[in-house]
Amino acid sequence: MSQVETYPVPQQIADNAWVDEPKYNKMYQQSIDDPEGFWAEHGKRIHWFKPFTQVKDVHFGADDVHIRWFYDGTTNAAYNCIDQHLPHKKDDTAIIWEPDDPRENARHISFGELHEEVSRLANGLKALGVGKGDRVSIYMPMIPEAATAMLACARIGAVHSVVFGGFSPDSLASRIQDAEAKVVITADEGLRGGRKIPLKQNTDEAVANCPSVQAVVTVKRTGGGIQWHDGRDHWYHEVLEKASSDCPAEEMSAEDPLFILYTSGSTGKPKGVLHTTGGYLVHTSMTHQYVFDYHDGEVFWCTADVGWITGHSYIVYGPLANGATTVIFEGVPNYPNASRHWEVIDKHKVNIYYTAPTAIRALMREGNGPVEKTSRDSLRILGTVGEPINPEAWRWYHEVIGKGKCPIVDTWWQTETGGILITPLPGATPAKPGSATLPFFGVKPVLVDNEGNHLEGATHGNLCIADSWPGQMRTIHGDHERFVQTYFSMYPGRYFTGDGARRDEDGYFWITGRVDDVLNVSGHRMGTAEIESALVLHDKVAEAAVVGYPHDLKGQGIYAYVILNAGEEETEALRKELVDICKKEIGPIAKPDLVQFASGLPKTRSGKIMRRILRKIAEDDYSSLGDTSTLADPGVVDDLIENRQNRS
Ligand code: WT7
Repeated sequence: MSQVETYPVPQQIADNAWVDEPKYNKMYQQSIDDPEGFWAEHGKRIHWFKPFTQVKDVHFGADDVHIRWFYDGTTNAAYNCIDQHLPHKKDDTAIIWEPDDPRENARHISFGELHEEVSRLANGLKALGVGKGDRVSIYMPMIPEAATAMLACARIGAVHSVVFGGFSPDSLASRIQDAEAKVVITADEGLRGGRKIPLKQNTDEAVANCPSVQAVVTVKRTGGGIQWHDGRDHWYHEVLEKASSDCPAEEMSAEDPLFILYTSGSTGKPKGVLHTTGGYLVHTSMTHQYVFDYHDGEVFWCTADVGWITGHSYIVYGPLANGATTVIFEGVPNYPNASRHWEVIDKHKVNIYYTAPTAIRALMREGNGPVEKTSRDSLRILGTVGEPINPEAWRWYHEVIGKGKCPIVDTWWQTETGGILITPLPGATPAKPGSATLPFFGVKPVLVDNEGNHLEGATHGNLCIADSWPGQMRTIHGDHERFVQTYFSMYPGRYFTGDGARRDEDGYFWITGRVDDVLNVSGHRMGTAEIESALVLHDKVAEAAVVGYPHDLKGQGIYAYVILNAGEEETEALRKELVDICKKEIGPIAKPDLVQFASGLPKTRSGKIMRRILRKIAEDDYSSLGDTSTLADPGVVDDLIENRQNRS
């Protein structure tokens, strides 16, 4: 091992884990030497109606990509998450729901109850005209009905598209339109940190521009006042009451779509990432078992929102496919106070806790007091995801939250990858704070330079994956061409992740962040182009350029350079309007932290904005601006530096 501080695997964990170090080495080698044989074996971990005989059919061409796994098998995701557990787990808890307000009662939903509710909703959706292959948008708060809605779609072969409840009506509308959803499932209002979010009202606004939508189904969460559109609107509880609870799971081909999930890219329009059924379930259930060393009877809590891929894979599909008890938490880490997460862990005896570095940093700021009021004795494994974790936060997580006894798994993956790809295994991998460590079974990460040359040994470069894995996205909904262009044209024969990474002398990977124009703000992914498009909608704005800069809490903050139309005044009021327009167009997560009014942007003579320079200025780092002599007007750089917004 290298000199960097290393945390060995606790012996007690290694002794009882699914995988220890020798077993990891052996299984990993097998998975690389004989992928077909490896996946033929592990593909059997899920329930197939008709077993597959074909394991893999993959082609990564520069202009032709297809990816199929287990493709002559048939299965159903909801059957795997529910029905297969009924014979031995009917009364066991599938979902623990913890509400926003700790004074409200938690709910425990058994696999039997989940079966009944999902079946009723599935029949209800059929009655509303939803069939196999149809799309359903889900715009929900963190309530069990969000999972029920996803599983009801899966049960009848409808394709769900969950849209994060923090997105604006406009963002919701564009996602509904792109998916051409027939039905939207929402709630009257969401509750987060004591605040209400008008989900039904937002849905009404969005659906006004979505001709494909025939019905809106609304869960009564708060009972707050809403508008009602007769003929289009239905209460969720009434849909259930009217429907039968007998709904056999539809037999789906392994490669039938399971869901679409929109994510940001480097260009304006969000991409509808499409995941299919068989491979996705194999990958998410397998990573859930091995990466979190999940053992039957344990309580698993992933704090993500179901509106993101982390929620899809590690609140709903992975855990439930394994018959796990999964926690759905409606609230936020600091409401009513900063002990909230730790209290939830004690209350529900959580064994495995999976969260984001941004949450850890925010809670760390509150000091040890709120933590030490609680016991956290049930905790066994800790996880992080979404962005690189700084070693200081890692150590606090390890020492204070886990009392030095819980391994931390720093899991690297993406919406596109469906599940975890680079990660420690708790019983196998000595940890180094800040490193996502080693590849999961079957995953071949490679580092390449900008020309696509493979880099060997300890080095850094662009992170690609050299072959497919079962949970990989299959296409961008409605735009296969863009799929090929975005991920496979830059470095032919490999999947390009958009991330940069370093590999150390032990072969450990250290993710250094995005190398494209994608930001990671509090673990939320956003395209700079989306924010720029929102800013230029303001009629006083001529041009805008957005970059990220290091932010203590959020990981990255949003820095916007804005050029106003001639004669417009640079006022604080206007600055606020610009922040608000991003909130309105995209959602609160897209609000710029700093807005700098600029007289010009650094452009090459051919008119291309030199973002590298803008990033350096936003970072407050003028030492390496590079050669600015090729700029059309080198003077703009001095002007930009002079007027740089103070970050503190
Ligand atoms: C991007 C993907 C799928 C997880 C939630 C985010 C960054 C993710 C890590 C990690 C360093 C990470 C990458 C990646 N990222 N996990 N453990 N260490 N960076 O999914 O919204 O699709 O974003 O998140 O930059 O490309 P996403």
